[in-house]
Amino acid sequence: MNKLSIAILASGNGSNAENLIRHFQEHPNIKVVLIGSNKANAGVHQRALKMEVPSVTFSKDLFNSPAVLQLLNAEKFDLMVLAGFLWKIPALILAAFPNRIINIHPALLPKYGGKGMYGTHIHQLVLANKEVVTGITIHLVNEIYDQGKVLFQVRCEVYENDTVDSLANRVHQLEYQYFPKIVEEYILSL
Ligand code: GAR
Repeated sequence: MNKLSIAILASGNGSNAENLIRHFQEHPNIKVVLIGSNKANAGVHQRALKMEVPSVTFSKDLFNSPAVLQLLNAEKFDLMVLAGFLWKIPALILAAFPNRIINIHPALLPKYGGKGMYGTHIHQLVLANKEVVTGITIHLVNEIYDQGKVLFQVRCEVYENDTVDSLANRVHQLEYQYFPKIVEEYILSL
């Protein structure tokens, strides 16, 4: 049987992307086949190189044109996973992968979701608003930012003396713990 395959899109550091690659490295039925990014100098490319997974960069024009499906070799993978990817997914990619795009969001959606809500901006707001809990949401991607069907959420506490870094770190730990498992369960259910 051919392995089920995953393409990951990431805009930044790529620690979740690396964690996913590691998780599936020895998996009998699933593998990560490609990393795509909108930034040529994103840390995720170094991680892809280290983990021996090919990576590509696309411009906004390319990402929004039908050619992106060729660039990503879209017919060759089963699931697209967004791991810190900041651009909106265009309709033509959504149409090519109905219910086959998963995103991770570092907050408890619907709170702190929508355009411009990413990474440390979210943690700053959570602290400014004196929230006592936050967490992660793993969800399907649809045409509206952060509003696709929720697959999984888990909470963590926010402490009075938290900084953006300490909170980001706690949330990242949850992401590392749960994201690969949820992706695995989902792709196996397709
Ligand atoms: C992660 O915390 C992820 O949840 C978040 O970006 C971070 C990427 O970290 N995604 C969003 O904010 C999406 N709106 P990483 O590059 O180290 O994996």
